[in-house]
Amino acid sequence: MFRFRWTLCVIFFVSIFAQADDSIYRDSNQPIEKRVESLLSQMTLKEKAMQLTQGRIGKNDNPNNIEKTKQRFNPIIGSYICFQTDVNIRNEYQRRAIEETRLGIPLLFAYDVIHGFRTVYQISLGQACSFNTNIVEQAVRVAAKEASQTGINWTFSPMIDVARDPRWGRVSEGYGEDPLLNADFCRATIRGYQGDDLTKPDTLASCMKHYVGYSESLAGIDYAYTDISERAMWDTYLPPYKAGIEEGAATIMSGFNDINGIPAVCHQFYLTEVLRNRWGFDGVVVSDWAAIRQLKNQGFSKNPLVQGAASLIAGNDIDMMSEIYMRIPKMVNQGLLTEDVVDEAVRRVLRLKFRLGLFENPFTEWVSEKDRYLQPEYMEIAEKLAVESIVLLKNENILPVTASNKKIAVVGNLLDDHDALLGFWSAHGRGEDVIGIQDGLDLYKPNGITFTDDLDEADMIVLCIGEEQKMSGENASRSTIKLHNEYLVDQYSSYQKPIVLVVTAGRPISYQSIESKVDAILHMWQPGVVTGTALAKILYGIENPSAKLAMTFPRTVGQIPIFYNRNQSARVGNGDWSGLYQDIESTPMYEFGYGLSYTSFTYSNLVINEDTLEAQVTISNTGDRSGKEPILWFVLDPEASITQPIKKLKSFDKVFLKPGESKTITLSLDKNIHLSYFDFQGNSIFEAGTFGIEVGGLTKTFKVD
Ligand code: NOJ
Repeated sequence: MFRFRWTLCVIFFVSIFAQADDSIYRDSNQPIEKRVESLLSQMTLKEKAMQLTQGRIGKNDNPNNIEKTKQRFNPIIGSYICFQTDVNIRNEYQRRAIEETRLGIPLLFAYDVIHGFRTVYQISLGQACSFNTNIVEQAVRVAAKEASQTGINWTFSPMIDVARDPRWGRVSEGYGEDPLLNADFCRATIRGYQGDDLTKPDTLASCMKHYVGYSESLAGIDYAYTDISERAMWDTYLPPYKAGIEEGAATIMSGFNDINGIPAVCHQFYLTEVLRNRWGFDGVVVSDWAAIRQLKNQGFSKNPLVQGAASLIAGNDIDMMSEIYMRIPKMVNQGLLTEDVVDEAVRRVLRLKFRLGLFENPFTEWVSEKDRYLQPEYMEIAEKLAVESIVLLKNENILPVTASNKKIAVVGNLLDDHDALLGFWSAHGRGEDVIGIQDGLDLYKPNGITFTDDLDEADMIVLCIGEEQKMSGENASRSTIKLHNEYLVDQYSSYQKPIVLVVTAGRPISYQSIESKVDAILHMWQPGVVTGTALAKILYGIENPSAKLAMTFPRTVGQIPIFYNRNQSARVGNGDWSGLYQDIESTPMYEFGYGLSYTSFTYSNLVINEDTLEAQVTISNTGDRSGKEPILWFVLDPEASITQPIKKLKSFDKVFLKPGESKTITLSLDKNIHLSYFDFQGNSIFEAGTFGIEVGGLTKTFKVD
């Protein structure tokens, strides 16, 4: 009897302690790591496998990859890509996950918020041309608010694939050809999405993609093989990711690409050695859509269990849409995988859920659509960004349009095609939200300007043409980068009127055959919901264009790849542009950093102090209009043990100057940041010697010991 009571007592106390231990993960006062361990220790292998699985709710709305089937909801799956916007449906799924599963682990809802959610703003490539990270951060904050109020916790953005091939449709989603631009806009974007605290209800976990080198796809065709040297990897493709990790990026997406024979989704060196061991990243890596299953197509393995085990062991934590990690228990049973590896991945997923505060606040508060989307202050930010990112490529004294140009004919496909103005991957943006071109021009029309449909009586033609929405973005490569409707330029030039060409595009365009036929070119990219007003303000000179190209525009497609920070060549012809083409000039049409203004800026007095490594330059507004000017600081390293590019962008800023005003700008150079390079193993190397600094067309050489 005594023994029986004693045993009961032990059972009682053990169960009390077990109980306490079991619920640690629910206690928000406990440190996250302790909560993770508490939860992990209670999970079955099947539950772990499901946390590493990602499904979808609703129909894929990527315009170039629409699929019809819907996946059935299962509350035990860890995360979902959520294509629908009904908060009640979303909350009902969440309720089921919490109430109908054994451990009540909340779901994570993800979505591609690429350049706005409903207030769709300028595409990323255009954003980079603003050289203004501040305005981009504000725009991204807007997207985070709209998306989080719709129940999204996680966005697959920013895309920071340094892009040098304009045939590749996805150049629109990144920040151009320069690693520093991608790094700095990546940082701004992460700050915008994640704010200062991921648990706040208006933040999203960000996801840097596509790790790594996806943009180097052969011939600019999406999903193709990538052959990338170690130096290109360290110097060009990896730095933006390192910057994003320093900024606190919560997650990373591995790429679809095969990197030199090892597909990115199962590349242990980049996913584990570089990301975790060297850079200390403790967030989640998610695969791209069905990338694990696609390992079969890439010639890696036809066996799903081998595909899954290889990806998980390499360091890819979540399986997006392959439904292969569901079979993790089988992989473990067959000895392809140990449970330790599974645990490590699950830890990262749970950590993310705790970091997002999902256990405390799993549900989304309902806010009416009227109060949720397209608020006036959101539109204002989108407009500022659009104004600062529209690039003036040519201006033969025709812009801005003043009252002396009395009658204007506004023509072209963009007048009716609002989807083209929204651009690719425009989330829940709608054509009807867009302020169209004619509406914008009407709204800000100065006195004295009238519009006419009669081209014979017009004083000027504003020809608005360009790429349609689906011509760039995912799976939308082009073998020519001329405008598909450039014949309209010929058609309208027959009227012998001055022409202002206004273009939308998700990529650099080859203007070679039409440039001389028009008097001005405004390359707008895809400015989003505020296109009409932003364009009007630029056309009428209410705002002064201040954007510069983040990607070089070739003359013809045959020059690709062409980018400013290429390495030095054995023989230098045509300035720095190496050998000669027989049929065209070797130089690009418009180089990285090119962009006109309605005023003129002059740079002077570039000096550098060799002791303090402080560089200074004075910039003056020598024209008669106020304006903003991006200041691009390049470093030259003409002699190095591993030869370096002609120049590299090392810092940028944007200043506002009134007519006649001057400002002196200082850049403090740091040997390890600005004057070093990576060797083939990724070590940062500084070599004493002679360097150069270039800004605004001025160059100064200096010595550093
Ligand atoms: C495929 C794309 O490559 C990726 O960028 C995107 O985030 C996923 N699909 C999810 O939609």
